[in-house]
Amino acid sequence: MGYSLLIPLGFLLFSSINGDSIQDPACPSFDCGNGITIDYPFWHQNQQIEHCGYPGFDLSCADQNPMLHLSNYTDLYPIKHINYSNKSLILAYSGLKSATCPTITHDITLNTSSLLFNSSGNKLVRFFYNCSLYPPSLPHIQCLQYGAKRSYVFKEGAIPEFDWNRYCASTVVVPVIEEAMDHGDLVQGFDQGFKLTWNQAAADGVCQSCEASGGFCSYSNGLPSTFFCICSYGRESINCHNHGNSSGVQCIFF
Ligand SMILES: *[C@@H]1O[C@H](CO)[C@@H](O)[C@H](O)[C@H]1NC(C)=O
Ligand SMILES: *[C@@H]1O[C@H](CO)[C@@H](O)[C@H](O)[C@H]1NC(C)=O
Ligand SMILES: *[C@@H]1O[C@H](CO)[C@@H](O)[C@H](O)[C@H]1NC(C)=O
Ligand SMILES: *[C@@H]1O[C@H](CO)[C@@H](O)[C@H](O)[C@H]1NC(C)=O
Ligand SMILES: *[C@@H]1O[C@H](CO)[C@@H](O)[C@H](O)[C@H]1NC(C)=O
Ligand SMILES: *[C@@H]1O[C@H](CO)[C@@H](O)[C@H](O)[C@H]1NC(C)=O
Repeated sequence: MGYSLLIPLGFLLFSSINGDSIQDPACPSFDCGNGITIDYPFWHQNQQIEHCGYPGFDLSCADQNPMLHLSNYTDLYPIKHINYSNKSLILAYSGLKSATCPTITHDITLNTSSLLFNSSGNKLVRFFYNCSLYPPSLPHIQCLQYGAKRSYVFKEGAIPEFDWNRYCASTVVVPVIEEAMDHGDLVQGFDQGFKLTWNQAAADGVCQSCEASGGFCSYSNGLPSTFFCICSYGRESINCHNHGNSSGVQCIFF
């Protein structure tokens, strides 16, 4: 009686080791509660000691949204959509939760990381805030009117001629999804957020080699950070083709 229990357990362990690699317990996927599955190469910020995924791809959860920290900015951007097959994601402008007013206080330049970068699906728009003087007939952002001061948004490259910089208190330029802009209302288009793409090829060579062999890139957060390649049977120092030659740290996750 007691022994019969052990055999199925052994099978269970075996099949989980050989299961779909993305389900590898070393690289667990997670969900912040809004139904977007977060998978490699993103990872949860709580995995601080050793993480499975790319540097800078750490996420936190807030209000059931996965939040990405873009390098160079202190803001966190909610992830609205991820497509793992074409390696793209859509971020929302966090200040814009309930179709209120665009309140972006700084430019967003999307070149800050070599791994996550600008998508060809974006176009730039420029906001001019709190202008004390303006051409009389241009539509302005109604919800940003303060007394006689008005604010405007235009597609970059299609800014009506006027000395905006002189008469407006501030200006910022941000990316917006191109299709979202084509429906006319730039403020509503802005609510759709912006796209980013990531690129495996931009990861370092050792990570590429690991992925090409079916593994997942993993880093320990020490200084210097140590690279591991997580394979279905355990971890390796280079890639999963080394099976059998590794230094004996296999099955550490089971
Ligand atoms: C990002 O920050 C670094 C360090 O502060 C700075 O050197 C770099 O120019 C910044 N990049 C952008 C695009 O602002
Ligand atoms: C990837 O797919 C998403 C839809 O999931 C789409 O919005 C995006 O434009 C695509 N990106 C590229 C670079 O094809
Ligand atoms: C992801 O992108 C691919 C390629 O662009 C597309 O075929 C697929 O429908 C997209 N998936 C989702 C969930 O949008
Ligand atoms: C953006 O990246 C491109 C290509 O890597 C580089 O030529 C350019 O100088 C970068 N711009 C900024 C603002 O970092
Ligand atoms: C991103 O790509 C789009 C389309 O290629 C381009 O218009 C825009 O200037 C690029 N830069 C930023 C920061 O969005
Ligand atoms: C515009 O002016 C109002 C009133 O002075 C101020 O509350 C608001 O923060 C300003 N907006 C920007 C984007 O500077």
